[in-house]
Amino acid sequence: MSQPTLTPPYFEQHPTGLGVGSSEPRISWRFIATDSTAAGWKQDAYDIEVTRSDDTESYHVKSAESVLVSWPSSSLQSREVAKARVRAYGGPDNTATEWSAWSTVECGLLSRQDWSARAITSPVKQTEGPLRPIRFRKTFALSSAAVHRARFYITSLGVFQAYINGEPVGDHCMAPGWTSYHNRLNYEVFDVTSLLKSGEENTIAVEVSEGWYATRLGFGGGRRFIYGDELALFAQLEIIPEQGDSPLVVTTESSWKCHQSAIVRSEIYDGEVYDAREEQGNWKSSTSETSWEATREVELPQTQLVAPNAPPVRVTEVVNAVEIIHTPSGKVIVDFGQNLVGRVRIHSLKKPAGHSTILTHAEVLEGKQLGTRPLRAAKCQDEIISAGHEIRDWIPRFTFHGFRYVQVDGWGPEDADSPLTLQSLVAEVMHTDLKRSGWFSCSHPMVNKLHQNATWGMRGNFLSVPTDCPQRDERLGWTGDLQIFAPSASFLYNTAGMLSDWLQDLSAEQLADPNAIPPLVVPNVIDESFWPAFPQAVWDDIAIILPWTLYQCYGDINILRRQYPSMTGWLDRAVQRGPDRLWDETLFQLGDWLDPTAPPDQPGNARTDGTLVADAYLVYVTGLLARICSILDESTDSSRYEADYRALKSRFQTKYISPTGLLVGDTQTALSLALVFDLHDSPQQAATAGERLARLVRISKFQVSTGFAGTPVITHALTKSGHHQLAYRMLQESNCPSWMYPIRMGATTVWERWDSMLPDGTINPGEMTSFNHYALGSIINWLHKTVAGVSPLEPGWREILVKPLPGGTVTSAEATYETAYGRLGSRWEIKDCDQFRLELVVPPNSTARVVLPGTEDEKLVGSGRYTFETTFNSQVGWPPKAQVPPMFEAEDSFV
Ligand code: BGC
Repeated sequence: MSQPTLTPPYFEQHPTGLGVGSSEPRISWRFIATDSTAAGWKQDAYDIEVTRSDDTESYHVKSAESVLVSWPSSSLQSREVAKARVRAYGGPDNTATEWSAWSTVECGLLSRQDWSARAITSPVKQTEGPLRPIRFRKTFALSSAAVHRARFYITSLGVFQAYINGEPVGDHCMAPGWTSYHNRLNYEVFDVTSLLKSGEENTIAVEVSEGWYATRLGFGGGRRFIYGDELALFAQLEIIPEQGDSPLVVTTESSWKCHQSAIVRSEIYDGEVYDAREEQGNWKSSTSETSWEATREVELPQTQLVAPNAPPVRVTEVVNAVEIIHTPSGKVIVDFGQNLVGRVRIHSLKKPAGHSTILTHAEVLEGKQLGTRPLRAAKCQDEIISAGHEIRDWIPRFTFHGFRYVQVDGWGPEDADSPLTLQSLVAEVMHTDLKRSGWFSCSHPMVNKLHQNATWGMRGNFLSVPTDCPQRDERLGWTGDLQIFAPSASFLYNTAGMLSDWLQDLSAEQLADPNAIPPLVVPNVIDESFWPAFPQAVWDDIAIILPWTLYQCYGDINILRRQYPSMTGWLDRAVQRGPDRLWDETLFQLGDWLDPTAPPDQPGNARTDGTLVADAYLVYVTGLLARICSILDESTDSSRYEADYRALKSRFQTKYISPTGLLVGDTQTALSLALVFDLHDSPQQAATAGERLARLVRISKFQVSTGFAGTPVITHALTKSGHHQLAYRMLQESNCPSWMYPIRMGATTVWERWDSMLPDGTINPGEMTSFNHYALGSIINWLHKTVAGVSPLEPGWREILVKPLPGGTVTSAEATYETAYGRLGSRWEIKDCDQFRLELVVPPNSTARVVLPGTEDEKLVGSGRYTFETTFNSQVGWPPKAQVPPMFEAEDSFV
């Protein structure tokens, strides 16, 4: 059989197909090549079969497209279920593949009219925060007819956990997640068929807590009640019995009952307090003796109810404790060996009534004590108040922490009744449960560790929204951080659903502003009286760069179309320009944030001028938007932005670039941005800039000299200008500041600052010091693109560039990536000093351009397995020498 196999089709960017928010969901499939699949396999046509209520429709489409093809049938209705399967025609004989397996798509509630539920809350309004979580309950009888299908549509003002007949509904955490609630509120859809009991009384129980909705959010003390000051539940259970009986719909309304939760409070920053004495029997079951109160109906805010494409937050891994540490001051600290984001689960706790056990979470130790200073105004503390009986399998339900260490007060290894041991508790890792898509490894263990740390950093910071950090009093969707890290993130995991949803929040918030300034954090919780909105390059440039990144990774043109008003709004209305239409120089720019020479208390005081950084970005994004316009057939705008791009580029050159190619801001960041964004006038100028960059890198002894703007581009700039050994040398440098320094210091995630921990083991004195920030880990994009050598040339990786460039002491590297077409694999090795061998697997229906090291020849190959060999000595130019005064020896400080 020379044909590939097709995966079951999937719909839009939806993780499961249950609760899809589109009536015409686009369909995609991937190819799995078998050993006998013909090389260069391309699709010529496809068949789709769609089954809707027992009728099967067949469609034959002559097209090479296999990614996000149009829904072939008529529009689906709310709740409608359809099945689809596909087969493709292609290969040398243009014959059909086997049919894929069937996939099911089921629409969510597509219109507000589909909801008959009323939002409910507790009878008495609490006037001050934190709001105490509420437990809601409803019992109802089910006839004896078997349940054919039951769906639970649910959302809340706050975050919820639901139970039916005592069983948890789904495994989502912190649902429905954080969105710009006043614009878009996610609802979840659960298949609860198996939880219901025919012919019996059934109970729905739901606990709702503040989540992000009403909690204190933001730095500098933050604010409570940003979205509202009352928790509420909004849910609809729809039960379709087997034949005969009419459907039963149970919706939230005032006949539901409620009472206060035994969780006394649960906050994002401060943590959760659980008082077991406040439990009122088994509140989740129908036989509960609890005293219940009436509920009160409230208006659900005018917001769009959204069926998310992002997967939910889940517990994805359990990490065991590795050590119990006794501190000199008598404290007990549990070490989990990995800085992670999630919560602690205690298997069993036996304490007398009224006894308090407190868990305080932190990322590091300092002076043999828990390092809590970087948490600023976040307590990161969970407390369990016992009721005198054993508490089993306790977890904080509605919060999460960023931690490696947990200090346990009120419970110790010496306790006679139930001593604390390494087996008493585990850490549960929580994040948006994205599908892993990319893997990298190489012969250098510390480079692999860097990649692992960046991956852990992504996991911890993709928790419902892409955040800057997961531990202190921020955990906000800082746009600049994501702008920098998105290409790396989208290699590691499939971010299409999550980030395209998040972009819709960005544009909703941005376009509500008369000046169309994207907020610096999305969802926006920054207090305007404290920090007025002002436009910022690098951060706000995400409005154009992220849609472009996602389009490159996933080939979804709808993302460009949907974000178009946001992109044009940013350039046409928000950018504050000077007389030359470059950035207004009077405006403060965050710029090359966290340049290592910036003083701890002035992270924006970089050696590269912020306006220069902003201008370089402005030229780049204007050119990008011109390209996007032509892809979208917006020809008038395309010409306008193209003309603007040329004019701005020329003004940038006049303003900053000398006739030889040097930059007036003679820094690594400035030179790198100019090289990577193609801002020079001629190849000769670019070559001069490349040489200058190389010199600056040697002068700084390969230590990092860049912040947020320069870090993602410097290794690319060095490679592009022919100095890849310098990029490897920087990668392998181990003195501070460098990528390897934190690893030498035992880091298990990427730090916010190059020196979040100082060489003497003390925490950087700057008040903004996290140990889990993904931005500076953006170098992994260079590991993927240059070390392993794979990057997308055409949207969705339909055309792949395979251009590995060995260097440093790395003797082999490999990457695997699930493209929109199938699995790409690339592995190279150098033996006997210069025998280079590359093994490549290109997925069906895509092509690769292969450039072997030491050559500029491109080989265009179709799908299949290939081996390439050449002679390439990766030791030429290694190790490069630092530029030091002649009387000193340049030291080799690489690992
Ligand atoms: C965040 C950053 C962010 C920056 C910008 C910080 O507090 O943690 O990562 O981009 O502020 O001001």
